[in-house]
Amino acid sequence: MCGIIGIAGRGAVTERLVDGLKRLEYRGYDSSGIAVLTDGHLDRRRAEGKIVNLEARIADSPLDGQIGIAHTRWATHGAPNETNAHPHQAGRVAVVHNGIIENYLELRESLASSRTFKTETDTEVVAHLVDVELGKGLSPQDAFAVTLKKLKGAYAFGLIIDDNPDEIYCARAGSPLALGIGDGEHYLGSDAMAMAQLTDKLIYLEEGDWAIIRPTSFEIFDEADKVVQRDVTVITGGPAMAEKGNFGHFMLKEIYEQPETVTRTLTNYLDGSLQHPLMSEELDFKKFDRVIIIACGTAYYAGMVAKYWFEQVAGIAVDIDVASEFRYRRPVLNERSLFIAVSQSGETADTLAALRYCKENGLKTAALVNVMTSTMAREADIALPIKAGPEIGVASTKAFTSQLTALAALALAAATAQGAISKSEESRLTAELLSLPRKITEALELDLHIEAVAKRLSTASSAFYLGRGSQVPIALEGALKLKEISYIHAEGYAAGELKHGPIALIEDGTPVIVIAPHDELFEKTISNLQEVATRGARITLITDEAGAKAASQMASDIIVVPTGDPFIAPILTSIAVQLLAYHAAVHLGTDVDQPRNLAKSVTVE
Ligand code: F6R
Repeated sequence: MCGIIGIAGRGAVTERLVDGLKRLEYRGYDSSGIAVLTDGHLDRRRAEGKIVNLEARIADSPLDGQIGIAHTRWATHGAPNETNAHPHQAGRVAVVHNGIIENYLELRESLASSRTFKTETDTEVVAHLVDVELGKGLSPQDAFAVTLKKLKGAYAFGLIIDDNPDEIYCARAGSPLALGIGDGEHYLGSDAMAMAQLTDKLIYLEEGDWAIIRPTSFEIFDEADKVVQRDVTVITGGPAMAEKGNFGHFMLKEIYEQPETVTRTLTNYLDGSLQHPLMSEELDFKKFDRVIIIACGTAYYAGMVAKYWFEQVAGIAVDIDVASEFRYRRPVLNERSLFIAVSQSGETADTLAALRYCKENGLKTAALVNVMTSTMAREADIALPIKAGPEIGVASTKAFTSQLTALAALALAAATAQGAISKSEESRLTAELLSLPRKITEALELDLHIEAVAKRLSTASSAFYLGRGSQVPIALEGALKLKEISYIHAEGYAAGELKHGPIALIEDGTPVIVIAPHDELFEKTISNLQEVATRGARITLITDEAGAKAASQMASDIIVVPTGDPFIAPILTSIAVQLLAYHAAVHLGTDVDQPRNLAKSVTVE
């Protein structure tokens, strides 16, 4: 994750841009940079490392202007050095970017004969593309609009153009971006924090929006390049309130952050080119023939999915257990086992106790956590960050998909280390992982439809979630999400298991949510769907396009998530079950962010 700030001002901007960057430093500090238009001409300064280095660079060689953009980087493509620091410049264009341009290699290739690339980044190609269009005589507005249509991925941009003294161009798809409204000035920022000292009036750009910001005016366009109006949000209260933005609940905000949080996780577990899993010396999978995953609640379900990945992709056996049971069953351990604790907080008492137990028994221990200052991160031999950022909603959402993403990438690294997959299969699965931010963004577009489905679900007193294979844990997670925030009783089951007892509970109108992407188990899951449908169940089918084609007539409601390889499908269906639970709870008027009887960090056994 990177941080972006821009000012279309009526006074000098450099100092204020640097101040904004300091508030964004939590989003990354591999390098930083600033570009301004001085008398209409582009000038930039960049530095490796923290923002103090950029300040020193500016002190040595001052620059100022009334229009400027700035960036603090958390390295994705390319080493964290000054060459790869943003803003990137090509000809007349300078750009700052947060996110991943998935098709950058293809785009670079298309310009290779006419353009020289100076960096290893995915971002530089955007500056070149806009500059090429300007060279053809297009206006800045048209050049920017044409370029956006060529990009595939999840991104937020700010861009300025030499000899175009009054404008900043910006766009969002998947990564957040807000406009700030000041007194004779306008701003641009990754979040409210970036603009906290500048304004309390924000406009959160919507998916696919782009905008032109001038000191005294701005225009916002939608994906189809139509001028649109977006609501102004006035930020009140402290920084925590500001962070909720224009979302009604932290939980919804965190659900919507997932394209970005998953990007951050990915960039931590893939190599600099984002073409391969990161092979770490600290965690050498050649040394292990078994993995033990221990966790609680939602984190446990992430571990359950990982069992499929490690076993199917890497051929490594996985034991998985809930932390509260693990050490009491006196498990048989051996030193060729790697222990992985999965925990958002890194403080859950049972998971911590399991970690200590394995350490005492001589196992190598790793903690996959969100909070890197936590006890687990400190006590484990290896701390593995998921980088989801603070999760405030008690019901875990973005931490879950980041846990899944990290575990998928680790399974891929294990497969490569063990020689269990070919190079081409490794590349194919890495590309699938890389498509996640975009596909999650597409899944979020189902929100309105899912809200309508959730409204019907909210009248039930009990519901079932069914899945097969790696969708079983998602069925369990869907049921957990629904019960913990809406208080509707819900159970998740392996679809084939229902007829061994629980099917007795199905009666006319019982809601059954069947999670069945069109994979090798699809037909079998659909047979189980029919077993409950004939007994009167009201079916909601969560599937993909091929699944919808084959089975839409069997369901009362259908939620069609983006198609993904079975390797990433559990992450995509997670988004649907999260939104379903969220909207059911909102319909019922429960306290979504702080449901009764629960705590975010469970530090008692
Ligand atoms: C459910 C939820 C909990 C946690 C569990 C473990 O939405 O958030 O089930 O997953 O309490 O917490 P951590 O991950 O902090 O160990």
